[in-house]
Amino acid sequence: MNFSLFDDHASDTVWTEDLCPGAVVLRNFIKPKSEEILATLERIAAAAPFRQMTTPGGYQMSVAMTCCGDLGWVSDRRGYRYDGYDPETGLRWPALPALFLTLAQQAAAAAGYADFIPDSCLINRYLPGTKLSLHQDKDECDYAAPIVSVSLGIPASFLFGGPRRQDRVRRILLTHGDVVVWGGPARLYYHGIAVIKSDAHPLLGPQRINLTFRKAG
Ligand code: SIN
Ligand code: FE2
Repeated sequence: MNFSLFDDHASDTVWTEDLCPGAVVLRNFIKPKSEEILATLERIAAAAPFRQMTTPGGYQMSVAMTCCGDLGWVSDRRGYRYDGYDPETGLRWPALPALFLTLAQQAAAAAGYADFIPDSCLINRYLPGTKLSLHQDKDECDYAAPIVSVSLGIPASFLFGGPRRQDRVRRILLTHGDVVVWGGPARLYYHGIAVIKSDAHPLLGPQRINLTFRKAG
């Protein structure tokens, strides 16, 4: 018997999982566009290379990052902030591609957030062994807009907590093509990424790329 046709079909099916009021996972939501997204990402990374930023406490982050959009998220000894210029190149961040804007808006709308207009996209690159500690996204000016988070490449265990650091954390497996949207009552919920396990993805090899769209300004 040949199961592969069924498997391929099943893995492209889009469905929604509610996490809590304000937060949903849109399974496979951007999968049909993933090759186009990756080609676009190559252009962005050529202009604004991935780099491992330093935390205000002086630690080098294991995750490599770059940005596109009017504003980019940066971290260094002076703190966390959004900046219109890439500190590595001295240039403006690459513009937010129309494809990215459209996908982010479609995902936000599917999650119940109409009229989302992101001005920033943080691009995280995770290799096996890297992680992102529990944190809140709170450097943005406007918490009325949600966060739209796109996963590509090898799987990750997304840690999703609550409004307080000590709240119980759920682990949600995110795979290639999944989108998580959190906003409204969940906008400031703690979240992070557990240590990435060794794996290889057909398009990306041994890496995971995450895009988070924000209204930062
Ligand atoms: C983030 O919180 O900035 C990224 C989350 C993820 O990589 O899924
Ligand atoms: Fe975050």
